[in-house]
Amino acid sequence: KDDVTVGVVSRTTGHTTQNETSKDKVYFFDTTLRDGEQSPGVSLQTPEKIEIAQSLARMGVDVIEAGFPAASPGDFEAVAAIANTVKGCTVAGLARANKADIEKTAEALAGAEHSRLHVFIATSDIHLEYKLKKTREEVIETVKDCLAFAAGKFDEIEFSAEDASRTDMDYLSEVFSVAIEGGATILNVPDTVGYMTPMEFAGKIRYLKEHVRGIEKAIISVHCHDDLGMANANTLAAIEAGARQVECTVNGLGERAGNVGIEEVVMALKTRRDIYGVDVDIDTKQFTRVSHLVSRLTGMVVPPNKAIVGANAFAHESGIHQHGVLSNPTTYEIMTPESVGAEKSAIVLGKHSGKHAFVDHLVRLGFTVDDSKIPDLFTKFKSLADRKKQIFDEDIIALVMDMIDHE
Ligand code: KIV
Ligand code: ZN
Repeated sequence: KDDVTVGVVSRTTGHTTQNETSKDKVYFFDTTLRDGEQSPGVSLQTPEKIEIAQSLARMGVDVIEAGFPAASPGDFEAVAAIANTVKGCTVAGLARANKADIEKTAEALAGAEHSRLHVFIATSDIHLEYKLKKTREEVIETVKDCLAFAAGKFDEIEFSAEDASRTDMDYLSEVFSVAIEGGATILNVPDTVGYMTPMEFAGKIRYLKEHVRGIEKAIISVHCHDDLGMANANTLAAIEAGARQVECTVNGLGERAGNVGIEEVVMALKTRRDIYGVDVDIDTKQFTRVSHLVSRLTGMVVPPNKAIVGANAFAHESGIHQHGVLSNPTTYEIMTPESVGAEKSAIVLGKHSGKHAFVDHLVRLGFTVDDSKIPDLFTKFKSLADRKKQIFDEDIIALVMDMIDHE
């Protein structure tokens, strides 16, 4: 395994500082309230944001990105309210690399127990040419100026190179070196457009570790979007290569196809600790509850087949699987539903279900059916399941009552 970039954490508060190193901890930076709120159709009010932020803090995230204070008066108010009320974790505010944004962010974060400026500027040639209309040198000057301006206004500074994954690597290394010289202690590598593949992204993280001046003083962070469905794979590959902060959202909300879901990264790291060997201080038992909260407040429905928090994540329909799970859940479950705060495994009756699960269900419904009656009852259940998509308890009860009536 590669040597990992060290994470730094203070003994008393758990906030990231320069004092103490913890090389195997992965820090979680939740951006549900910023990038997550950029999901088309999502708009949260301040009290709802506070409720989500409090849940995130209880769940143990290290940093909450509360919003983008310069974006609107509503965002400013929400960031300030979270900074004033949510304690026990770092509160971050996003800012473009200009003085006005940084000043607004400092104002919004004034009440935070521990504040972080998250300042960003694009670094890829595509963004420089078509969006910023700046040269590479001008971007470097902007980074220097804004970091000098931000110095002393926050407890810590995170610098993001937007579209880093499509940026020339030598130039990116130079921008990050300048950011460290300017006082940034967290360097974020966003895959802004979800363009990366896992091995490629891991290679970039290794390259930065070798080429950025002063990198040993900083934490490398990753921020993966899911445009090609690879956000989690890319995040995990980056962790293997030494990244120690993950930017993520609840349920994978975020711009376009979304950001990586916190529940997916954390459960992958925990379930495959044999591969990753890193520490994660997140209370995973809260995942289902927080997922439901965010879904209800944002109106973004969680697909039933979503990993970890989808309604079917611990449901088994086929007879072979049901038989296995009823004998021993580890046959078809790599984590327990309890570990993510979900209800116990659901044995869903449908046309693929076997006799074992069917009989088990009859018993759970309180019936003791004579063994000789089971084959006939099971045949009737199968033909019903062929006609009906979902079988409810009422359907099974009706089948048994019908059998009793005809005895
Ligand atoms: O996707 C992105 O590049 C971002 C940055 C602001 C970090 O959200
Ligand atoms: Zn993003």
